[in-house]
Amino acid sequence: MKVTPWQVSGKIDYEKLIKDFGLSKIDDKLLERIKSHTKELHFMLKRRVFFAHRDLNWLLDEYEKGNKFFLYTGCGPSGPIHLGHLQTWLFTKWLQDVFDVELWFQFTDDEKFLFKDKSYEEIQRWTYENMLDVIALGFDPKKTKFLIDTKHANILYPEAIKFAKKITFSTVKAAFGFTNENNIGQIFYTSMQAVPAILPSKIKGKNIPCLIPLGVDQDPHFRVARDVYPKLGYLKPAIIHGSFLPPLTGKGKTSSSDNKEANIFTLDSPKEVEIKIKKYAFSGGQDTIEEHRKKGGNPEIDVSFQYLKMLFEPDDIKLEKIEKDYRSGKMLTSELKEYLIKKINAFLSEHQKKREKAKKEIDKFLFKK
Ligand code: TRP
Repeated sequence: MKVTPWQVSGKIDYEKLIKDFGLSKIDDKLLERIKSHTKELHFMLKRRVFFAHRDLNWLLDEYEKGNKFFLYTGCGPSGPIHLGHLQTWLFTKWLQDVFDVELWFQFTDDEKFLFKDKSYEEIQRWTYENMLDVIALGFDPKKTKFLIDTKHANILYPEAIKFAKKITFSTVKAAFGFTNENNIGQIFYTSMQAVPAILPSKIKGKNIPCLIPLGVDQDPHFRVARDVYPKLGYLKPAIIHGSFLPPLTGKGKTSSSDNKEANIFTLDSPKEVEIKIKKYAFSGGQDTIEEHRKKGGNPEIDVSFQYLKMLFEPDDIKLEKIEKDYRSGKMLTSELKEYLIKKINAFLSEHQKKREKAKKEIDKFLFKK
């Protein structure tokens, strides 16, 4: 298994990640505590799609004292938005709604230019396209601020150099596996991603707690940066870690760049979704109908079931019934896939409409000093 911000491969062992990264598990007690504030628990919490954290109890201590936090997450704009992105962002949207808090959202066009074999112009196009998808998810424009690294450089850079001065090359080498062949922009980049977690504090002139929802592959940036925040007089941000939505073929993580067939993107047509699911979604069912009726399917390894569990079937009762019927052989793989295709297409048809409207709304989201 390999998990870095730029590469996720192999079979992901989340228990091992918790140990290796030094994370805390989300346990029932913590869920109860969250529920005491939110009334309902998001299904991604109940089902441990978000499975680990750093300092979440501290964040809630502060919240209970009346010290509100803000949210911070981001997007590396290197390609079209896929379902894996939506997982973190839909959860973030829920957090914004239930806690009624600000969200700072970073678009790291610098990062993607430095790490991908793509031109600056292409990355700018993806930045615009990706902003539309984020807006379409329904974030509150009054409480959401977009930062684009190269456009907001006048605000971000003066803070980034303060982080950069306290992070050595040997630290980033160890955290990310960099070598002497990495370009010098890549070596600097973590300091840009560190900044939004303190920017509101910097602007308001007082320390405000921060919660970062992210896919666990992004944790190494903050593992490095968290040592630096106190040295600069800031609070360490709390983090909540999501697991990876598997690509349709089953292993690793969905990604914008590899495997066009194996991922579903927000602009896919209903027909494309149908074809991809039918052709590529790894099945935990048996080879023949007779065998499936006899032995049943395995939802744990079935990608269609995992998509319902992690993203598209919030209703626990419906999900349980599907799981039971699939396991017993009463439900066939073709029926499971049909159910998922309907869910995804219903979501995407709404999303695509909202994404069109978002074209007029970008300006409302861009941070202005
Ligand atoms: N580096 C992230 C990516 O490639 C984007 C990002 C920037 C981010 N800041 C973040 C993700 C904070 C999570 C939290 O997608």
